[in-house]
Amino acid sequence: GLPIAFHGPHQAGIATPVQDRLHFTTFDVKTENRGELISLLQAWTRAAERMCSGLDAVEGGAFPRIPEYPPGDTGEAVGLPASRLTLTIGFGPTLFRKGGKDRFGLTGRKPEALEDLPKFRGDTLDPLRSGGDIAVQACSDDPQVAVHAIRNLARIGFGTVSVRWSQLGFGKTSSTTPEEQTPRNLFGFKDGTNNPAVDDTATLDQHIWVGAEDEPEWLRGGSYLVARRIRMLIEIWDRTSLVEQERIIGRDKAEGAPAGLRFERDPVDPAKQPPDSHVLLAMPETNDGATILRRGYSFVDGSDGLGRLDAGLFFLAYQRDPRTGFIPVQQKLARADVLNEYIRHTGSGVYACPPGVTGPDRWWGDTLF
Ligand code: HEM
Repeated sequence: GLPIAFHGPHQAGIATPVQDRLHFTTFDVKTENRGELISLLQAWTRAAERMCSGLDAVEGGAFPRIPEYPPGDTGEAVGLPASRLTLTIGFGPTLFRKGGKDRFGLTGRKPEALEDLPKFRGDTLDPLRSGGDIAVQACSDDPQVAVHAIRNLARIGFGTVSVRWSQLGFGKTSSTTPEEQTPRNLFGFKDGTNNPAVDDTATLDQHIWVGAEDEPEWLRGGSYLVARRIRMLIEIWDRTSLVEQERIIGRDKAEGAPAGLRFERDPVDPAKQPPDSHVLLAMPETNDGATILRRGYSFVDGSDGLGRLDAGLFFLAYQRDPRTGFIPVQQKLARADVLNEYIRHTGSGVYACPPGVTGPDRWWGDTLF
């Protein structure tokens, strides 16, 4: 596909047709110097602009004129197209305040909605796979391009930030383009059928983008990202009967039709749903309208040493406000979803994603600083 424009009122990588691959990384900021943090965000923005259009990370790139220096680009994407690369940045609560400390004079600028997520019933979170001052989501159709982008941002940030945790993903699990075939997750079900479409601007304006009257002002046109690493106990699932699998999800496995209906795109009928199906519990109609944009990926991180695949769904969801989006839905799912017998939430993060960079003189987060 053609390169995806980096510049615009919203960051790319949110209402962008989902690419095939993910490299998601969070960073902790090591410096306490506000100016150094700003310089890094500026340098990152310039590198992101270049990489998203298929260029090397910096001018001179992989083959600098002075070979006595380490190259400014690591080189593994030389000759590869941009492969629809998008880079999307978000700021975690700890960027604004960490251990009671206001490192960058940002505490007063912290969005009220940007609080650590509450503990949900059944959470088994690994602190080494959670949080982070800054998150970057790299999506591309080529895993090498996504990995290259994150690697070069980490390289540019050397000394200023360090990688906290990172997740690779494949096989998008959420469609945002209804005209295309819906992808399947590792439980074998079509995933993303009832997801806002990227061209449904009315829904995006109402539920995904921080609105023109929302506070804080610096975040208008941005969004909140919730990331959850959800391990799927696939060996147990694979021994569950097809009828039971379909009852748990509330859709049939072959077609993806809602319970009691024929076609994938038939609107879910709550009256026909099993009372505790995932779809019934998660749908906006039973959650005061709570609507999120799911943009997750499957992962298999090898095996766990006990003969089981360390596999699952790296759940990524964008919304206008997590307090009326992910949080209430997950509170309900954590309490009632039969799917919980087959999944474990093992990592978590919430990030405020600033509006898009509107031109070459602007930078990621400039409205915040
Ligand atoms: C729908 C699977 C976790 C929210 C669905 C569907 C499947 C599915 C197969 C039906 C197709 C569709 O409309 O997308 C899974 C699996 C999960 C998981 C395997 C964990 C590994 C979550 C979580 C949330 C969530 C953590 C949010 C807190 C939703 C929503 C829908 C949905 C909002 C659409 C409901 C509707 O409007 O019809 N999920 N899901 N899911 N899921 Fe999940």
